[in-house]
Order: sequence, then structure tokens, then C-alpha cells
Amino acid sequence: MISANPYLPQPAKLVEVIDETPTIKTLVVKPSTPLSFKAGQFVHLTLPGVGEAPFTPSSSPLEPERIAITILRTGAVTDLLHDCRAGATLGVRGPFGKGYPIDKLAGKEALIVGGGVGLAPLRALILALLGDADKVKRVSIRYGARQMEELLYRAEWEQWVKNPKFDLTCTIDRPQEGWSGGTGVVTTLLKGLDKPSGDGLAGVDKANCMAFVCGPEVMLKFTTFALIDEGLSPEQIYLSMNRRMSCGWGVCGRCNIGPYYLCKDGPDMNYATIKDYPNVF
Ligand SMILES: Cc1cc2nc3c(=O)[nH]c(=O)nc-3n(C[C@H](O)[C@H](O)[C@H](O)COP(=O)(O)OP(=O)(O)OC[C@H]3O[C@@H](n4cnc5c(N)ncnc54)[C@H](O)[C@@H]3O)c2cc1C
Ligand code: FES
Repeated sequence: MISANPYLPQPAKLVEVIDETPTIKTLVVKPSTPLSFKAGQFVHLTLPGVGEAPFTPSSSPLEPERIAITILRTGAVTDLLHDCRAGATLGVRGPFGKGYPIDKLAGKEALIVGGGVGLAPLRALILALLGDADKVKRVSIRYGARQMEELLYRAEWEQWVKNPKFDLTCTIDRPQEGWSGGTGVVTTLLKGLDKPSGDGLAGVDKANCMAFVCGPEVMLKFTTFALIDEGLSPEQIYLSMNRRMSCGWGVCGRCNIGPYYLCKDGPDMNYATIKDYPNVF
């Protein structure tokens, strides 16, 4: 639920700062009252006296009292958030948006495709599905980053795939010393989606899957085209449209695609709903 005044952040104590990669940190905050959210909903994180920015929590929705926000250093606010130390008081408002349509996944396969810091919002989805794994048939995670050092949450992957319904395949853009995994952009992991992979992984059941894609806009675009080429319908594809936002709840008109406000109707949008509007990619 949005608080009575959706512009008013509640204080949130920064309890832990985790260095994830050279450019990405996870800030774990404890809001003064637990902030319930659904996987895929986002919050505005405030640095008092500086400003705020929208982020989708990367932690489990089952832990509303301790919210992890994984942040790529990219500009004015994120630079200063990276400099914060445990003990600082930040602000948080929200949650906003609809969250992932997890209910529609009953009996289906989830194909989760992340690029770079885009794995952060998807991690909340992965953790939510791990907590309710009976519901889904399979969760197949395909993840790409520019280089080995930029791969997020590597220490957790083993835990995720301990569940036999979960698998993870990753790639980095170019060959790198010390890397023996796949290379190429993340769309290379989507070719021949329904065929078993070289390492014995079963193919994805294309007719019975839903794809969730999060990453930079260029990655969203080419991943969507790759999935369509593989035979998925637009209705099967959900895109995290994490564009610039301001109010967060459909008032300022900053974030629309056609008649839809990404903050209110998304940020995860069904591709079939938005594909015919001019400013999708
Ligand atoms: C719903 C939503 C969820 C998001 N979740 C995350 C998350 O989990 N982790 C994360 O690291 N980031 C996330 N972002 C992006 C994050 O909000 C921006 O990186 C942040 O607002 C940049 O603020 P800044 O003041 O540091 O950068 P600015 O100084 O405002 O901008 C610096 C550079 O970043 C670009 N930029 C700014 N905002 C965005 C944006 N929304 N998308 C792409 N480029 C942007 C600018 O064009 C500019 O090139 C999310 C954005 C939205 C809308
Ligand atoms: S951010 Fe204001 S309408 Fe979406």
C-alpha cells in the first residue's frame, strides 16, 4: 500500500553496504515501519538534502523489514548513495507499480533474462519463486554482463540452482582471462531455446513459458526480437521499463507509453500491450 502522502519518504536506516562489483553496491535498509512490496514493485530511495531515485528492491518480498537495493553508480544521486556508510539515515517511499504477474505463472515455465544490473529487480522475482517453487514448472535464468567482474550475486547462484527446477546460464560480452564460460551478449543464450543445451540442460517449453526481461534499453530491444524470433508471442514477454520517473504514481506524466504510465501500470509491461506505440524502445 502507498502511504497517505505518497511523496513523503519514511526514514530508513542503512544497515549494510555490500560491494557487489566495481560499479554496483547493494544497500540494505531497515525502514522505520516494514515496507511490504511485491517482486517487481519499486521504491524511491532518498538521500536527504540531495535527492531521490527509483529502484526495484532486489531482496525477497518475504522480508519487508529489511530491503536490499542494488545500485549501479551512474550519476549524481547514485554516486552519493555509493558513498553512504552503514548507520546513515536514508528515506524510502513506495512501493509503486504493479509487480510481476506471478499468479499467471502457475504450472508454467519462467524464462528470466537479465542484462548487467538488470538482474537486481529479477533477483526479487527469483527469490519469490524459490519461496513458492511448487507453483512453477521450471525457472530458467539467462544472464549476461559486460565482463566477469560485473556478474552480480555469483555467491548465491549455487543456492538458487540447488532447487532442481532452477537453472542458470551466463555469458560475458568478450573472452577474458580466467573465464571459461560462454561469451557473447545475452541473446546468444536464447538461440535454439527449445533444444537441450550442450551441458545437458533441457530445452525451454516455448508454448508454456513466460519471459521476464530486465536490463539496459538496448538489451530489452534485442532480447525481445530474439524471443520473437524463437517463436514466443508478444503476450508471453514482460519487459522491465525502468525509464526516468518522477512522482511514481501516475500524476506527473513523465513516464508514459501511449495511454500507459510505466510507474503505475508497470514498470513490468507486457510487450503485447505496448508494442504498437512509437516510443517503446
Ligand atoms: C522503476 C525503476 C527501477 C529501477 N531499478 C534500478 C535498480 O534496481 N538498480 C539500479 O541501479 N538502477 C535502477 N533504476 C535506474 C535508476 O533509477 C537510475 O540509474 C537513477 O535514477 C540515476 O540517478 P542519478 O541521479 O545517479 O543519475 P543522473 O545524474 O540522473 O543520470 C546519470 C545517467 O544515468 C542515466 N539514467 C538516469 N535514470 C535512468 C534510468 N531510469 N534508466 C536508464 N538510465 C538512466 C541518465 O540518462 C544519465 O546518462 C531504476 C529505474 C526505474 C525507473
Ligand atoms: S512518474 Fe509520474 S506519471 Fe509516472
